[in-house]
Amino acid sequence: MNQENKLLKAFNQTAYQVAGHGKRNVQILKDALDVIEGDIESDMYGSGKLIEDFQTKMAKYLGKESAVFFPSGTMAQQIALRIWSDQKGLKRVAYHPLSHLEIHEQDGLKELHHLEPILLGERDGVIHLEDVLNMKEDVACLLLELPQREIGGQLPEYAELEAISAHCREKGIALHLDGARLLEILPFYQKSAEEVCALFDSVYVSFYKGIGGIAGAILAGNEAFTKESKVWKRRHGGDLISLYPYILSADFYFDQRLPKMEQYYEEAKELAGYFNQCQAIETKPAVPVSNMFHVHFHLPKEKLESILVSVYEETGVGLTAYLREINETTSYSEISIGDCYSTVPKEVLQKAFQLLDEKIRVVHSD
Ligand SMILES: Cc1ncc(COP(=O)(O)O)c(C=O)c1O
Repeated sequence: MNQENKLLKAFNQTAYQVAGHGKRNVQILKDALDVIEGDIESDMYGSGKLIEDFQTKMAKYLGKESAVFFPSGTMAQQIALRIWSDQKGLKRVAYHPLSHLEIHEQDGLKELHHLEPILLGERDGVIHLEDVLNMKEDVACLLLELPQREIGGQLPEYAELEAISAHCREKGIALHLDGARLLEILPFYQKSAEEVCALFDSVYVSFYKGIGGIAGAILAGNEAFTKESKVWKRRHGGDLISLYPYILSADFYFDQRLPKMEQYYEEAKELAGYFNQCQAIETKPAVPVSNMFHVHFHLPKEKLESILVSVYEETGVGLTAYLREINETTSYSEISIGDCYSTVPKEVLQKAFQLLDEKIRVVHSD
């Protein structure tokens, strides 16, 4: 067995895990359906009370005129950018170099919609007002991802966000929010979803990140925008005859976990603090601004993997299931806090970090 598999295996055998909501197994759907009456009618091709009620609920929560349920954020966002670019008659949009659209969607935006993205901002930072002001090209839409996942979930200052929004309005640039983790940042900004969304023309939120549902997304905006998005959803094959397993679980976990976002955020700061106390470890951001952060380990990956395996085995605490290598001396891992963190007894957690620190110091002094 290679080191990577050993790490995953040791992680899977731990009694406690610091991140996530637990196993992504079928029980997630069973729990959500358990509280639902069996005679509720299924949605049909995007219509019916079940889907429409949820869309209305989410439109209200996000403070938008209307909302549409999609099977995936990938589909919803490509469509959003297509609509804004059609409206302006300009096949150019702007987003961050590490946007989900740029690095995780096999160029869907370019291949399917022939849209040209302008990559705005530095790879290791968020998009700043300066970047937007200095943009030479005219674009139909600017997409902002809050928080910027690939750099540990960083955020701009709220005032800067307001300034970007005002600038886009003035210039006639549609502003779209990749809010896959929107609910997770509200405690940091101390704003309601409605307040943040008011800065944007269209918004996407996910139901399987902090919310922990099965899959699914909401795309919200004005009536004309969402009406058009339904046409594109049909064209993309997104109008499944029934989406209710996704919708019912999205609704169930939204109600259950929305009130816990503040707790996850506080716990993320606490856990990042434990990591940062260890030799050769730092988190990005140093102080999390949501329930997520990245942990950077400045040690050769193989050495780190054996240290982690022994910490998991000795303490029963799983810190991460995988490591991504950046170079020979650094690797990183993404941590998103969910329901699991509060189940780890504090003394057990502290023991795990103490041990981790000790073992790293031994390797460092070699
Ligand atoms: C920031 C961000 N945007 C968009 C998506 C796409 O969501 P989906 O998996 O529903 O297509 C993701 C998924 O990881 C994401 O993290």
